[in-house]
Amino acid sequence: MLSTALFSLALALPALGAPEFRKRDCAGTSPKPIKNIQLGPRPFWLIDQLEDGPLKEKLESCTEMKMKPSAWSISHRGGGTLQFPEETHGSIMAGTRMGAGIQECDVTFSKDKSLVCRHSQCDLHTTTKVVTIPALNAKCTTPFKPAANGTAASAKCCTSDFTLAELKTLCSKMDGSNPNATTPAAYLDGTPLYRTDLYAKTCEPILTLREFISLVDGLGLQFTPELKTPEVSMPFPAGSNYTQAAFAQQMIDEFKAAKIAPERVWPQSFLYADVLYWLKAEPAFAKQAVLLDESADSAPFEYSVGNLTKYRDAGVKIMAPPLPYLVTVKDGSIVPSAYAVEAKRLGLKLITWSLERSGWLADKSHGGYYYTTVANVTKSEGDVFKLLHVLAQDVGVLGVFSDWSATATYYANCFGLF
Ligand SMILES: *[C@@H]1O[C@H](CO)[C@@H](O)[C@H](O)[C@H]1NC(C)=O
Ligand SMILES: *[C@@H]1O[C@H](CO)[C@@H](O)[C@H](O)[C@H]1NC(C)=O
Ligand SMILES: *[C@@H]1O[C@H](CO)[C@@H](O)[C@H](O)[C@H]1NC(C)=O
Ligand SMILES: *[C@@H]1O[C@H](CO)[C@@H](O)[C@H](O)[C@H]1NC(C)=O
Ligand SMILES: *[C@@H]1O[C@H](CO)[C@@H](O)[C@H](O)[C@H]1NC(C)=O
Repeated sequence: MLSTALFSLALALPALGAPEFRKRDCAGTSPKPIKNIQLGPRPFWLIDQLEDGPLKEKLESCTEMKMKPSAWSISHRGGGTLQFPEETHGSIMAGTRMGAGIQECDVTFSKDKSLVCRHSQCDLHTTTKVVTIPALNAKCTTPFKPAANGTAASAKCCTSDFTLAELKTLCSKMDGSNPNATTPAAYLDGTPLYRTDLYAKTCEPILTLREFISLVDGLGLQFTPELKTPEVSMPFPAGSNYTQAAFAQQMIDEFKAAKIAPERVWPQSFLYADVLYWLKAEPAFAKQAVLLDESADSAPFEYSVGNLTKYRDAGVKIMAPPLPYLVTVKDGSIVPSAYAVEAKRLGLKLITWSLERSGWLADKSHGGYYYTTVANVTKSEGDVFKLLHVLAQDVGVLGVFSDWSATATYYANCFGLF
């Protein structure tokens, strides 16, 4: 029984000189819902940075509130991603303690077609220590190559390069790599300065989708599995019956096998064909299917706005573009974008991503990609709340994916969004 056999801390002592303190074992006590939600100092510090005005006053009025989990606060890669290795038990527990009401697993497959949680099919070289294990590095799509003669170090290691048993030997790390590395060990050293390795020395194994479901079910939360766009051609291997549709079906089948009600599941994909497949084959699960949209990164914004009609007509209910697609600046203030206005007109619901992924807002990056369209008015760390306020009150999003769930949870509690 998976639901009663999860995640105790392993007691086994590490071998002398081993780099890991302990490896988490996926067997043991069953998780229970967390009622004592703890937001830590960050939301309070961000409010302190916010310029004076009605929004700051309102947020300050909530400092002594008892905080509750909110489905408006959606974990991105676990929700503790700012400080914990992503897509792991550690990140999920951190996001859950910070009140995330919906938990994300990005779903991809092993060589032997087991479903596992990783943000991308081919990020093992930056999210695990695989390149430092010669026997496994050799199996990578592109094994580690040191930096040389002005060319950056490189590697490409995919979940589909390994069996589940091999994947289960890996330890997760903070996402990042050092392009100047001349050794595999040096390549691992690339955590951005605004994140930390503080929680990354213990060994957090890769979770299977089944373990994720069991954990999140035990925590009493909702699920948002994202079918990751494969980086190998489908069917995999060529000529097999493991088609894209079989993969899309397999993800839903795991929820059915665990007897999870479709109302608790928000399946996502960037591939329109996946959502069309679910609409046809799994209508109950498709009611909350989420079509992720990054089309305006590579084509005119007007096309993305124009295509919303087509999606609505096909039965898509929820679109999920990144934060910058939903907002723009008018007369010095953040306002809904043409995309947000059109989605509302069409009756499409919106979810957006990813808050707390930018690092600093007040430096010259102005929050980078996720603040592109509001960079001109992004000047203080507290401006994250100005963005959230427009998303909540003017755009009316269903929820916000976040790398540090506390910030969105604080806003949601303060404004009664559950
Ligand atoms: C770098 O350049 C040197 C001299 O041209 C050459 O011997 C060496 O093989 C090059 N290294 C790589 C990794 O390309
Ligand atoms: C890599 O080397 C370049 C050139 O020396 C330097 O500018 C850059 O900061 C280095 N990057 C890292 C991550 O160490
Ligand atoms: C695909 O083929 C495998 C055997 O190679 C079989 O076990 C499996 O049931 C097949 N799946 C479907 C969806 O036909
Ligand atoms: C979106 O719209 C543009 C312009 O009409 C079109 O070329 C493009 O194929 C559309 N994209 C999708 C995914 O339908
Ligand atoms: C920001 O301001 C500059 C200068 O006023 C302007 O050229 C630019 O278009 C603005 N960018 C955005 C995204 O509004």
